[in-house]
Amino acid sequence: MLTLDADLRARVADEWAQDGLMEHASVASFARFTLHLLAVGAPPALVDEALQAGRDEIEHARLCFRLAQRVGGAAVGPGPLPLDGDVIGDVSLPAVVRAAVAEGCVGETVAAMEAGAALERAEDVEVRAALQIIARDEARHAELAWRFVGWAVQADAAARAAAEDAFRVVLAAPAGAPLTEEADVDRLAAWGRLTRRRRADVRAEALAEVVAPTAQALLARA
Ligand SMILES: [Fe+2]
Ligand SMILES: [Fe+2]
Repeated sequence: MLTLDADLRARVADEWAQDGLMEHASVASFARFTLHLLAVGAPPALVDEALQAGRDEIEHARLCFRLAQRVGGAAVGPGPLPLDGDVIGDVSLPAVVRAAVAEGCVGETVAAMEAGAALERAEDVEVRAALQIIARDEARHAELAWRFVGWAVQADAAARAAAEDAFRVVLAAPAGAPLTEEADVDRLAAWGRLTRRRRADVRAEALAEVVAPTAQALLARA
């Protein structure tokens, strides 16, 4: 299952490179989240964890680029990150909560579960090692976002309303038409790659089984 023809090899390498670029962009996301936390006066322990999370993303990017290079044979790495315009955005507590819900409570939860799902069927040793690290760290990043949102909704009524609305919007989004599974699903899986169909399934599972109940429990606290 570990052998790949030229087309599939190029695809696997490209997908790991794309993941590397997204992980690299996550370094900037956590830099911004750190500024957001400071702007709203969040507890220093959360600031500390946000800084650590940014360092985790540097490691994730390195792992993904290394896999892309090993599979594809060509060196890959990040270029300049476009940071023109209003990078920091609105730093009011409700706006910061909205961003944390989307990127952390949802984005990091989905990322952790995608890495976990990929790990279940990955066969390559180096791929498995990378996915173990990524799944563990993304779960911790999600937890950080949940704790921040929990702190914010306790502190402020407008933040609570923003969280309620942000969760409502993401959970009400239509799932989209079911995708047909690809013929190469098993060979891709051996290299830690999820097809679009499997990603959609994992996202739906993450929203229904983790995000919805966790948000409900968090917002139920007075
Ligand atoms: Fe990551
Ligand atoms: Fe992350």
